[in-house]
Amino acid sequence: MNFWSRKISIDAMHENKHGEGLRKTLSWPHLMALGVGAIVGTGILTLIGVGAGLAGPAVLLSFALAGLICACAALAYAELSTMMPAAGSAYTYSYAVLGELFAWIVGWSLILEYSLVVSAVAVGWSGYAVGFLSGMGIDLPIWLAVGPHVEGGLINLPAVFIIAIVTGMLLLGTRESATLNAILVVIKISALVLFVAVALPNFDSANFTPFMPHGFGGPLVQTGVMAAAAIIFFAFYGFDAIATAAEEAKDPKRDLAIGIVGSMVVCTALYIGVAATAVGAAPVASFSDSPEPLALIMRNLGQGAVAQWIAASAVIALPTVLLAFLFGQSRVFLGMARDGLLPTRLARISSRGVPAIVTIFTAVLVSVLAGLMRLDELASLANAGTLMAFASVGLALIVLRIRDPKRDRPFKAPLWPVVGVVTILGCVIFFFSLQHRTQFWFLIWNVLGIVVYLAWSMRNSRLAKPVPNFAA
Ligand code: ALA
Repeated sequence: MNFWSRKISIDAMHENKHGEGLRKTLSWPHLMALGVGAIVGTGILTLIGVGAGLAGPAVLLSFALAGLICACAALAYAELSTMMPAAGSAYTYSYAVLGELFAWIVGWSLILEYSLVVSAVAVGWSGYAVGFLSGMGIDLPIWLAVGPHVEGGLINLPAVFIIAIVTGMLLLGTRESATLNAILVVIKISALVLFVAVALPNFDSANFTPFMPHGFGGPLVQTGVMAAAAIIFFAFYGFDAIATAAEEAKDPKRDLAIGIVGSMVVCTALYIGVAATAVGAAPVASFSDSPEPLALIMRNLGQGAVAQWIAASAVIALPTVLLAFLFGQSRVFLGMARDGLLPTRLARISSRGVPAIVTIFTAVLVSVLAGLMRLDELASLANAGTLMAFASVGLALIVLRIRDPKRDRPFKAPLWPVVGVVTILGCVIFFFSLQHRTQFWFLIWNVLGIVVYLAWSMRNSRLAKPVPNFAA
């Protein structure tokens, strides 16, 4: 069976504007807000501590490296999403350019990414929620506040709670409104800007020495700048959420490119500012283990009210990240089911327009993980899935430029072929800079994926035999 080379057609993607067609209401400021809304979350709020623990003050370099790789991936996304404005993003581009088996691996990785981002962000939310409540004089018992990996911990109940709330909202058909999202983005950004403004006067350059206590590191080295970059990478993605809104853009050619690239630029500038002032204002060891490092730094500076405001902003605004990724997960699942690669029964749409079964199933699974696992382990595994997706977008960019150079490209990534090559190489190096445990679990996940593909998906693929459209 010629499954390796099965591809969906890019031209058909443009012709198949089936049925109602989504209303084109979004222009680039909306899309940029959508991107920043999905990007700014647990990465900058909490993993900054984990990264600083691995790299020391040189976590600044880790931010810059992760930002560089993500900026290249964002440019590749911008080129492909304006050529193929379809909701499946990396999975769809891979299917059209690299073939079905590759698309399957990417889709399967995206399912892992989106699910584990939900778990990780919920754990990050919990850290700030518990701190916020404590600031109000309400102390949750430790056995309900953290998982069993911490002494005295049993289950991270707040993390489970917030996943339940967001799942309920999704099942009721909530789609974040562009206006609400913009308000929440302003709240998140203002909290980070406030952090920078208050931390800056306390800047002490002595906190930067030794700058690189754990070395630069590199593939298969478990500490240092590269190991931190591989985890900090988590902070930068989410811009692919813009690509899934491609069909709703007023002028996809212009708006998608500005939205994707612009949101990356804004976030990178913001992150470098936050990371530099955090490290300058406090010795790394004082916040690297904290579940709410930015609030802790403020409290240690005697700024309890600012700490409470940062925690409150996180509590209010982080659920948008959860919503974006849980929604994205069901979108990818739906896309794969429509292509016949996953059972359509599981992707059946409820009367409220939501793939309820897969959403509930995912929510239960990610709640268990969020309740029991460590944030850095969840985030690392989510990163592994994302790195796979980004690397294939970089590869798809290169292959399509070579194979079909004359095709119309509304947005062309600059510096050919640097963007594609740096994306692929960066993702590979980051992957091998992740913890060995993460690499092992990612391998297991993919072996499982290949078994499912060979046992079921390969034969049920829409391109292998026509399957009836499932009813809405
Ligand atoms: N970039 C998102 C976050 O940091 C996933 O929460």
